[in-house]
Amino acid sequence: MSKKRILTGDRPTGKLHLGHYVGSLKNRVALQDKYECFFIIADLHMLTTKPSREAIEAIGQNAHELVLDYLACGIDPSKSVIYLQSAVHEVCEMNLIFENLVTVPRLQRVPSIKDMAKSANLTEIPFGLLGYPVLQAADILMPRAHLVPVGKDNESHVELTREIARRFNTLYGEVFPVPDAMIGDVPTLVGTDGNAKMSKSLNNSIMLSDSAKEVEKKVAGMYTDPARIRADIPGKVKGNPVFIYHDIFNPDTAEVDDLKERYKKGKVGDVEVKQKLAAAINNFLEPIRERRSQYEGQKGLVEEILFEGTMKMREEAAFTLKEMKKAMGLSGVWNKISRKAEEARKKRERA
Ligand code: TRP
Repeated sequence: MSKKRILTGDRPTGKLHLGHYVGSLKNRVALQDKYECFFIIADLHMLTTKPSREAIEAIGQNAHELVLDYLACGIDPSKSVIYLQSAVHEVCEMNLIFENLVTVPRLQRVPSIKDMAKSANLTEIPFGLLGYPVLQAADILMPRAHLVPVGKDNESHVELTREIARRFNTLYGEVFPVPDAMIGDVPTLVGTDGNAKMSKSLNNSIMLSDSAKEVEKKVAGMYTDPARIRADIPGKVKGNPVFIYHDIFNPDTAEVDDLKERYKKGKVGDVEVKQKLAAAINNFLEPIRERRSQYEGQKGLVEEILFEGTMKMREEAAFTLKEMKKAMGLSGVWNKISRKAEEARKKRERA
């Protein structure tokens, strides 16, 4: 039996951070052998909040960094497809078909859309932004994916995708699996500043490509228990970002337990707790940095990987669209028209 499929990916906004890793990337890398994987660089989705020419100009470099982050984390281009959304134009046709299977009030209830509009300082929601999750449904259903490893903020988009898949199948016949979302063990990672969410725009992120020095500096400046103005004051461990990170990134549980005990009793300084955390994060990031620099050193490789992946996705896209039209009964008309057009062209050529 052939493998089930994964489709997931990111908008090319720049480099990825630790939150992306624990929220989704870790699952993607782990599932690469069990599933046939497709990773999208969703550049068309960028237009929903940032249609300016300058923003579009930045996409190329950002896409390059994103692919490097994928490869650095262990996504293997010989097993998995990495592709550029805008180079597979079938997505637009699928998007148009799906737009008719969902209502405006349903889209208005998708929580992330309001959030995206707000962080882009948009007072009114563009048509395209309202359709953001519909386009995402077209991405997911294009290779007929079964599983979508994403961060918590994308859960509602996968829910909508499920509804669209079901609606399509009910109206026209079984073409699509109904895909499941898969959220990482840390659905939302706190920021270094104690904000609920690590986010590049909030400037509270540790990037996967940060140097050891940058990590040390960011960790040294992390938000911790604000009531603890001296090392001999008992501190709070629960909800403390420094210990949240220790629990996630420090595999030495004995060390973490010891630090927690001493912290609660006022018997350890912040400096020690933070130095040990920086060391743990650096240990975790070291192999990622190593792979990143290997790929970075091979000029043209990232572009080649993206090109190969996009070519593979095009085949999937053409197949799915054909199946969709066949199920819908659109293809009959289409075949006839393209046959007629071809005949007309030949006739003109002969004349
Ligand atoms: N919405 C994703 C983000 O937040 C990007 C994305 C576009 C995506 N299409 C997708 C994720 C399909 C998973 C599956 O950046």
